[in-house]
Amino acid sequence: MLNVGKIEEGFVLDHIPAGKGMSVFYHLGLDHMDCMVAIIKNARSGRLGRKDIIKVECDIDLLNLDVLAVIDHTITVNVVKDGEILEKRTLVLPKELKGVMHCKNPRCITSIEQELPHIFYLADPEKEIYRCKYCDEKNSEKM
Ligand code: CTP
Ligand code: ZN
Repeated sequence: MLNVGKIEEGFVLDHIPAGKGMSVFYHLGLDHMDCMVAIIKNARSGRLGRKDIIKVECDIDLLNLDVLAVIDHTITVNVVKDGEILEKRTLVLPKELKGVMHCKNPRCITSIEQELPHIFYLADPEKEIYRCKYCDEKNSEKM
């Protein structure tokens, strides 16, 4: 088993469905940040068979984790401070997402006014459906 050391401060994103680790990496914007990141792919897991794990060593106030629930709410967020797990956060679908999904409707105002932020609202929490705040187009992006 591949071993990655414990972190001092940051997040351990555990139980990410196998194969979704890179999606989490990009959606959190970790490619643009200079904190230390370890991505473990296909770790053995009793519950899921295989899972991905991401460890991020960073200031815990720096990262917005809203998008995680949209990718998959089975992800466990362990918040680590001073080398100890401070909190295991449960994920809830955000009511609104800004700059995460992009409206594909060519007639939407966001297609015409390029500088407008893309904002989606949670239209159906049961079915996990998000719609564009401007034109009501359903999100079709795969997270
Ligand atoms: N971890 C870490 N750095 C720390 C503390 C914990 O990287 N300072 C990691 C552990 O290596 C583990 C994850 O955080 O991958 C969760 O730790 P823990 O809650 O102790 O493990 P489990 O009990 O297996 O978690 P769960 O019950 O959520 O499966
Ligand atoms: Zn739109």
